[in-house]
Amino acid sequence: MRSAVAAALDRAVAHIATLPEQPAYVDTAAAVAASKSLVEPMPTSPTPLDDLLAELFDRHAAASFTTAGPGYLAYIPGGGLFHAAIADLVADAVNRYTGVLAAAPGFAQIERNVVRWFAEIVGYPAETGGFLTSGGSLANLGAIVAARVDRLGERFLDGTIYVSDQVHHCVSKAARIAGFPRANLRVIPADERFRMPVAAVERAILEDRERGRRPFLLVASAGTTNSGAVDPLPALADLAARHGLWYHVDAAYGGFFALTERGRAILAGIERADSIVLDPHKGLFLPYGTGALLVRDVATLEAAHSEHADYMPTLQDDPELVDPCEISPELSKPFRGLRVWLPFKMHGAGPFRRNLDEKLDLTRWIAERLRALDGIEILAEPQLSTLAFAVEAGPGTGAGAAAEANRRTEELLAAILRRGRVHLTATSLRGRFAIRICVLSFRTHLDRMEACLEDIEAALAETLAS
Ligand SMILES: Cc1ncc(COP(=O)(O)O)c(C=O)c1O
Repeated sequence: MRSAVAAALDRAVAHIATLPEQPAYVDTAAAVAASKSLVEPMPTSPTPLDDLLAELFDRHAAASFTTAGPGYLAYIPGGGLFHAAIADLVADAVNRYTGVLAAAPGFAQIERNVVRWFAEIVGYPAETGGFLTSGGSLANLGAIVAARVDRLGERFLDGTIYVSDQVHHCVSKAARIAGFPRANLRVIPADERFRMPVAAVERAILEDRERGRRPFLLVASAGTTNSGAVDPLPALADLAARHGLWYHVDAAYGGFFALTERGRAILAGIERADSIVLDPHKGLFLPYGTGALLVRDVATLEAAHSEHADYMPTLQDDPELVDPCEISPELSKPFRGLRVWLPFKMHGAGPFRRNLDEKLDLTRWIAERLRALDGIEILAEPQLSTLAFAVEAGPGTGAGAAAEANRRTEELLAAILRRGRVHLTATSLRGRFAIRICVLSFRTHLDRMEACLEDIEAALAETLAS
């Protein structure tokens, strides 16, 4: 065991130590084509671990996005705090059963504590219910199911859900998985700052009521993936209350900024939600595989998930104790709480708070410089740690000017990526091809943002000269 772990650890440490020098942008097209040749028969003879580690690190890790590196400003960065690897090693080696409290009370309570800490971060009461899952997609599904059971009961096909056109696509996917036809999702166009327009949502709710539909769920975003926009959370809370809707906030990206003073101000009103999704593998810098659903009234989670079977161990009826399997869809499950608990206990919340604050500063730093660049236009100002920009549309107005700006912005992105120091991705904002910058890795600091700016400037000069 020792030598096997030491071999893996040597590889992992060497890999992590070289992250700043690894190309930040890796074009994986060749590896995608080559992946077809990876189909392999089931092994019938052993292979030495060193050979397997060489394949994983030298071949596959090298030909993939450098998601854990400091130059990864793409999509929503996933961090990769090494403490989680230690936690996973302990959790998997001990392999206790955390689906049922009686099987591993201390471990299950550790997970419960993590949910309590998250509740504290967003301003929820301590008795908040919730569970950890694989990520934001399944956490949002959990919220929709809880809302459906609580507000509609078993005959739910006339229930309608309200989202903006900036909501993460996992919400519409979750609505379908939860049994709702696509037509039950009301997608309201966002305002000029990419935020949910309260009056338009209210009109849609009233129209649906008139038609005999049952509006039951309003989903706001606290940090959209597209542009980092935070919906008007207090006004939406009022709206949901006025019409008796379950109010859910998808804060998978933005929620942990509530650890900072500025973030708390931007996210004010989130605490009025019936449920909130947070993604520790985004805002707490953990490796992929940990999302969280918080629900104000734990009884609603229980109503959606509780089942009984004769072969199960004794479940709890003490209101202060919770069996994870009674309030979540999983029974056997990984001990995810340890990945959060270990780094928080080892270092306290301070480093998380400081790192998130730094990300807010870095985003404002680069926004200010981009604003001053001739030929660049900011399409989405930073609300948290994401912004979007493009090559300025020329003096002509209308589709022609926008199409030309889109073409040049696409060229600009390619020229930035060719330099290999940052990985940026694109999106579409009101018909404009937009380059996004999302700063969320604990490994990203000012030096990398300076490199990012230099590369944008050089790539812009190249693009404008062509
Ligand atoms: C706002 C938002 N919600 C939900 C998700 C989905 O989360 P996951 O990828 O963890 O399933 C994402 C992912 O980027 C997101 O940014």
